[in-house]
Amino acid sequence: MILDGKRILVTGVVNRHSIAYSIAERAQREGAEILLTSFGRIRRMTERAASSLDPAPDVLELDINRDDDLVALTEEIGRRWGRLDGAVHAIANAPPDALGGNFLGAPRESAKAAFETSAYSLKALAEAVMPLMDTPDAAESNGGGRRRGGGIVALDFDASVAWPAYDWMGVSKAALESVARYLARDLGPRGVRVNLISAGPISTPAASGIPGFSDLAGMWSEGAPLGWDTRDATAVADAAIFLLSDLSRAISGEIVHADGGLHCVGAAGHRVGTWRSDSTTSSLAPDPQAAHSPTD
Ligand SMILES: NC(=O)c1ccc[n+]([C@@H]2O[C@H](COP(=O)([O-])OP(=O)(O)OC[C@H]3O[C@@H](n4cnc5c(N)ncnc54)[C@H](O)[C@@H]3O)[C@@H](O)[C@H]2O)c1
Repeated sequence: MILDGKRILVTGVVNRHSIAYSIAERAQREGAEILLTSFGRIRRMTERAASSLDPAPDVLELDINRDDDLVALTEEIGRRWGRLDGAVHAIANAPPDALGGNFLGAPRESAKAAFETSAYSLKALAEAVMPLMDTPDAAESNGGGRRRGGGIVALDFDASVAWPAYDWMGVSKAALESVARYLARDLGPRGVRVNLISAGPISTPAASGIPGFSDLAGMWSEGAPLGWDTRDATAVADAAIFLLSDLSRAISGEIVHADGGLHCVGAAGHRVGTWRSDSTTSSLAPDPQAAHSPTD
């Protein structure tokens, strides 16, 4: 189990459809002990989702925009565990008028709110968990040597292009990508890795608030070379598990695309052929009949 003995904080679980729920489930399966966070009126939903995890993790209060909550979070995890090995940032929010196609008309305050909750929040979370990761290794504490460090993973949606309807959330994701690079620069010397997963569209509570989400989802099911199932968050969660594990110990400041390969193709959906094995020549040749991926 690649997370055996690790203690991991998972933000962003609303219900069992949340990407963070799949990450929590997979992390437990790989041997991790986890805590969740939630806040306000969503908290009861998070607790309900937590009760279907095994074992059911506790849910700590965290509105990522409240400094008091962040201070209390550090203290509470310190009191319970003394240290932390990993943290998952699965937090995003934008006011309705910052999404949906009226990019030019979105008010300044809405753009700022999207940035604060969806991008600045990664710095806020990193600051809160840093003291819990930058602790001496017990085995080495007498020698005062190596620090143990940890891994922070956040969820991204490819911000290298402008998407329909995604608007100021897209701008916030571009900022998130940059925040992750600066954190990787500044926290690396303390043994902390910071990486993003650029996920394909998954049907979650947050996604249902994005007008035009089904159009985006359609692009993926048509165009992702590996195929894409918007109901399967485990494909994203497994990438997070790798990034939280020691297997990724040399990786920081990276954006791993868990998107069925869509980011690497131009003219997505316009297939010229899928490669097939040609038994006569023992080589590979394009199959003009093939219009769909093997997973269709
Ligand atoms: N669903 C997708 O298609 C998709 C694709 C790529 C990236 N993502 C990203 O994945 C992450 C998780 O989203 P999801 O799609 O699983 O939806 P979700 O609705 O399940 O999760 C969003 C979470 O953000 C939390 N949140 C919002 N404001 C907060 C605040 N002030 N303080 C603390 N938490 C707050 C919500 O409580 C919720 O748990 C987000 O960063 C999202 O942008 C989602």
